[in-house]
Amino acid sequence: MKKPTIVSGFSKLSKRGKIRWLVENFFVNPEEVARELKSFWYGDPQKQKIFDDFSENTISNFYLPYGVVPNLEINGDLYCVPMVIEESSVVAAAAAAAKFWLKRGGFKAEIIATHKIGQVHFDWKGDYTKLHNLFSELKERILADTAHITSNMRKRGGGISQIELVNMTHLEANYYQLKMTFETCDSMGANFINSCLEESSRSLRAFISEQDSFAVEDRDVTIIMAILSNYTPECLVRTWVECPVEDLGEFDGGNMDAATFAYKFDKALKIAHIDVHRATTHNKGIFNGIDAVALATGNDFRAIESCGHTYAARDGSYKSLSSAKVENGMFKFWLDIPLAIGTVGGLTSLHPLAKRSLEMLGNPSAEELMMVIAAAGLAQNFAAVRSLVTTGIQKGHMKMHLMNILNHLEATEKEVIVVLSHFKDKLVSFTAVRDFLNILRTNPATQ
Ligand code: MEV
Repeated sequence: MKKPTIVSGFSKLSKRGKIRWLVENFFVNPEEVARELKSFWYGDPQKQKIFDDFSENTISNFYLPYGVVPNLEINGDLYCVPMVIEESSVVAAAAAAAKFWLKRGGFKAEIIATHKIGQVHFDWKGDYTKLHNLFSELKERILADTAHITSNMRKRGGGISQIELVNMTHLEANYYQLKMTFETCDSMGANFINSCLEESSRSLRAFISEQDSFAVEDRDVTIIMAILSNYTPECLVRTWVECPVEDLGEFDGGNMDAATFAYKFDKALKIAHIDVHRATTHNKGIFNGIDAVALATGNDFRAIESCGHTYAARDGSYKSLSSAKVENGMFKFWLDIPLAIGTVGGLTSLHPLAKRSLEMLGNPSAEELMMVIAAAGLAQNFAAVRSLVTTGIQKGHMKMHLMNILNHLEATEKEVIVVLSHFKDKLVSFTAVRDFLNILRTNPATQ
């Protein structure tokens, strides 16, 4: 490999040109790597073009497993939920939780609110009271100036629902916000919100410049930035499962009764509410489910994650997003989570598999998809905590990981059968599998 050098005009090279530059500069076996990168191109060039156009400097596609979780019952409806995730046990765990709750009333879910937020951050040296007194006039101006952007959304029942003037000068000199609330119906709405905000910042500047009652030097405003907020605590969904404790059944092959399980599960949730190290891992388990469905349906999992973690810290300390309660013989487990997602626009209609995912879910509204994603997160969380307080996580994890180890060691089909059967009741580790395979391979009689 040569020492990396600065390249100019890279984005203007053709895809093949980009690959050529890359393999010649960074790989010892350029031809082989070029072939490999091209082998992940979509067979149909028209479809590949869609992927190329999603992003800049695309040279190939990066595959991840696309799996499904059948039997997830939400509010009495059955869903087969698509998930894109590389972590071995996530789909299996969610499927097991879906099956478990199917026999106990299924998942329930409700939408609490669907408001999204955007802000124009501005710097202004004028008299706050004067601007405050004129604010209803400014709001009318903003609504009129953004009407060409909001007209379609308004026809669908959405648009700008609130505009506030927020005085932040107690925290930062001359700092104010226009805080705007949006309804974006079935779209995630990021482009819509940002377009409205940029137009609103122009309205604000024009409005302030026209105010004769302001001192001349106060007729100027500096727009710092206009951007949506990914923190959407009022775009919120609640999902839950509940049943009598006795209906939980037995765990760990009969070694743990329902009451002990409920007690330990409840304690595990309390720990995730008081200990930040546990809370982070606990919430990671929730996002294993949420991100996987978000990805499969073409939604922005980074926005969802950043919002979820902020929400988890909303009262000043980072906590579990889910909660449990054992009361009057009932076990209840629930999750409140903000989810700003869409089922139209963006990747949802462009990515061929995202489109299929939505079809698989019955082409849901954004609200319905919020409930599905939240339930997948709770299912995943239930499965993880169930394993943790019963058998431990490694049993299931390593069983699923076994196939990865076997693939890594290039096991043949015959070897896979023998190894899977051997490790049925044994602890799986990379070393143990490698040693067992070595024995198999050096002793042809066992093959
Ligand atoms: C692993 O990806 C997720 C878990 O660690 C979640 C948890 O501990 O609750 C199993």
